[in-house]
Order: sequence, then C-alpha cells, then structure tokens
Amino acid sequence: MAKKETPRKETPTSPKGMRDIIGSEQHKYHGFFEKAAEVALYYGFQPIEIPMLEREEVFLSTNGEDTDLVGKEMYTLKTRGGDKLALRPEGTAPVMRAYLEHGMQSQSQPIKLYYYGSFFRHDNPQRGRYREFRQFGIEMIGSPKSISDAMVIYLTALILNDVGLKNIMIDVNSIGDKESRVPYLRELTQYYRKHINKLCGNCKQRIKANPLRLLDCKSAECQPFKEKAPQSIAHLSPAAKAHFKEVLEYLDALRLTYRINPHLVRGLDYYTHTVFEVAEIAPDVAPEALAENATQLEETGEEKDRRVAKEERKAAANAPLALAGGGRYDYLAKQLGSKKDVPAVGGSIGVDRVLLSPNYKAVTPRIVKKPKIYFIQLGFEAKLKSLEVIEILRGARIPVTHSLNKDSLSAQLGTAEKLQIPYAIIFGQKEALEGTVIVRNMQTRSQDTVKLAKLSDYIKNIK
Ligand code: HAM
Repeated sequence: MAKKETPRKETPTSPKGMRDIIGSEQHKYHGFFEKAAEVALYYGFQPIEIPMLEREEVFLSTNGEDTDLVGKEMYTLKTRGGDKLALRPEGTAPVMRAYLEHGMQSQSQPIKLYYYGSFFRHDNPQRGRYREFRQFGIEMIGSPKSISDAMVIYLTALILNDVGLKNIMIDVNSIGDKESRVPYLRELTQYYRKHINKLCGNCKQRIKANPLRLLDCKSAECQPFKEKAPQSIAHLSPAAKAHFKEVLEYLDALRLTYRINPHLVRGLDYYTHTVFEVAEIAPDVAPEALAENATQLEETGEEKDRRVAKEERKAAANAPLALAGGGRYDYLAKQLGSKKDVPAVGGSIGVDRVLLSPNYKAVTPRIVKKPKIYFIQLGFEAKLKSLEVIEILRGARIPVTHSLNKDSLSAQLGTAEKLQIPYAIIFGQKEALEGTVIVRNMQTRSQDTVKLAKLSDYIKNIK
C-alpha cells in the first residue's frame, strides 16, 4: 500500500508584532539599558523586576476599563486554576502593586525604582508600534513635591540626551487634582455634547465613559472640535495651579525645552496633575507646508476631501513618535486597595522607538569587549587543548575571539586581519606538546614563543 504523504508543515514565524532580536541588535538594547540604569542609579533609583504576568485586576482597576489599553489591547488568559491574568501592558500599576504588597510605605519616602523589560499590547503593528515592546521606566513613589515631577522629566530627557537624542521636545500639561477635575469634566462634556452628531463613533461613547479621552482622539472629524475645547489648565484648583507652576519653574531652571500642550491627556486613567510626553524634533516634517502647496490647486469638493485625507495620512506617517511619556498618579494606590492615597510620579521610555532614531548612538554593553587576541589552532592535538588556552585568557580577563571550526592557518589569519585584531595566538601540534603558544603581532608580524604559564602576564604587558 502506498504510504500516505503527511502534509508539509510551514516553518512557524514569530507572532505578529513580536520579533527576535539577535546579535549586535541585542547589544544595542542591552547598551541602552546599561546607560539608562547608570543614570537612574546615580540619582538614587533602585532596580525592581516585576512579573510578566499580573492579576488582571491590577490593570482593570487602575488603567480604566474604558481605555484602549485595557478594553482592546490587553492580552489576558485564564490559568488552569482559574486565575485571570494579564500580560503586562505597562509597568506603573504593577510597581505600585509591589510597593503596597511589600509595605514600602514604612520605609523612608520617596521610594525610587527603575525597571526595564518587555510589555505587551494587542494593537495594530505599524511604524514604531509593536505588540511586544521594551520600556525603561522610573517611578518615584511617596512624594507629592513638584521637584519629583521635574526630576522624572529631567532624567527622561537626560537619558535620551546621553544616547544621542539631543533635539527633543517635551510636551507638558496638568490635568489637575480631584477638585479641578469635576468642574472641568462638566464643561468639557457640555462643550462636546453640542457637537455630538459630528463626532466619530468612539468619541460619542467617550462623552459618557471617559470624557478626558475626547482630547486624545486622532480621528480627522474630531480635530476641529479639539482646537476650541475647554482646557484643563484653565480649570485648575489653586493647589493644582501652584503645583504646576512650580514644575514649570523647575523645568525652566533645568533649561529643558518644553511646551505646554493643553490637549495632552495621555491614554491611561490614573494620571493627575502633571502629564508629559517626549518626542524627537524632526526638521523634515512640515505637514503645514504640504497643505499650503495643495490648497493652491483649484479643486472640487471631492478632490478636496481626498487631498485632506491623504495629507492626514502623510502627516500621521511622518508625525514624530512619542519616545517617552509619564506623569503624576496620586490616586492609583487607592485604586489598588490602599487605605491612603500615595502621591507618586513616573515616566517610561519606549526603547524600541529610541533605537529607531537615526540619531541613536549605540552604547556598547560593558560585557562586550573588543577582542585583543585572535586564537588560532592547528591540528587535532592543539584543538583538544584549545579551550584550556582560551580559559587562561578569560581568567586573566583578556578578550579573545576564535573560530575553532576552521582548520587552515591562512583562513584563520585572514579572519584576524579582517577583524583588525592586534594580536594572534598560534597554537599548533608542537606548541600543544611543549605547553607553549606563539604570540604574533598582526601589524609588525613579529612573533614570540611564550610558555602557557606565563601567557596572561605576557599579554597584559603588551600594548
Ligand atoms: P505609555 O505612554 O503608554 O506610558 O508608554 C510609554 C512609551 O512606551 C511611549 O511613549 C512609547 O515610546 C512606548 N510605547 C508604548 N506603546 C508602544 C508600542 N505598542 N510599541 C512600541 N513602543 C510603545 C506608560 O506605559 C506609562 N506606564 C508611563 C508611566 C510611568 N507613567 C507613570 N510612570
């Protein structure tokens, strides 16, 4: 009987919006993390590692069930034991959960923490938007002071500056405290209700569910209303106004380039007072210029609609991506069950987006060393003992590279030359038996025979 052919399986790929990061690209990520962690440590922040999975309620109760992040983008699962867990979409709520769980309130305040790792949002992948992305975050928990808001913004800018992103713009706004929020939301809702028929479907919902997010809408039909919408900074309580004024004074004193953006509300529900976002200033983006050229044409209504839609698509594709964002979140602790409010402020940098910038200056991680020695082995006897020689070099912290799979001297010397490694160690049959190696200066081609026992001292003494 003819053997039934099993269908050929397609090789699986990584899930949509998630990817492998390999070799030198991974070094770029690692280098960024080391640099950011160094800045955070200098400013007294301590590392925290939070789980990839959290109980779903950590995000439901804090980020807001009506936000895109919770409503549409969260990866959730039910465990065999019946627990409802979520892959972390952001780090602030889990860090606050950890603060409360470990009784950090009883330590000297504020608690300053930093974290780095993958976060997950089930969004449509596009330029700079992934389903798995990496953030570096800092959180200052237990301080109501405006200096903390300024410090978080300052450190975010400092880290971006240190990796080469010098031309950045910081958008700031204040959405006030509880006292400011009630009258402001009343006025905002009243204003939008007058235009309800012309709003996009999402915004019609937002009027009831989450009015602040009306200002966050990216739909073309809602943009004209955004311009004239009431602004939160005009409705700040005296305390909120004083707080925001102080933050701005600190930003001035720190000579940061910022602008007040009255439409900045950010996508998460837990913010109060200061909110901020950072983007790189792209000199080549000028959507206004595009619009000006196009309006010079004589056009019909239909042509105009098409042109406007095209301009908006272009502007969206070229618009600078937010590299970082954050703000104050004084009421989040109570949303997580704390009896008392815990004042806090923080921000996170989207590391994938930083690495996309043409201005990003790759930072080499400390574990990656420029090799000083290329190790060449010849013959079976030498191959057998190769790892011993490499271990002598590692023990002496001398960076070495090799290709143990190659056999010919010329192929190995060729690689050493190509990689511009200053010295080669040649280890042949004779040397293996005598317990020696030949050290060759790749530039002058001079060679010395050195006993294995003396090798690390010899190498340390050459330039
Ligand atoms: P967020 O604005 O949602 O804030 O994210 C911070 C940064 O992460 C964004 O500015 C962006 O650079 C990056 N990011 C967000 N989503 C994606 C994505 N899908 N693909 C690539 N990059 C992305 C938060 O997450 C808050 N937890 C920040 C914070 C800390 N607030 C207070 N403390």
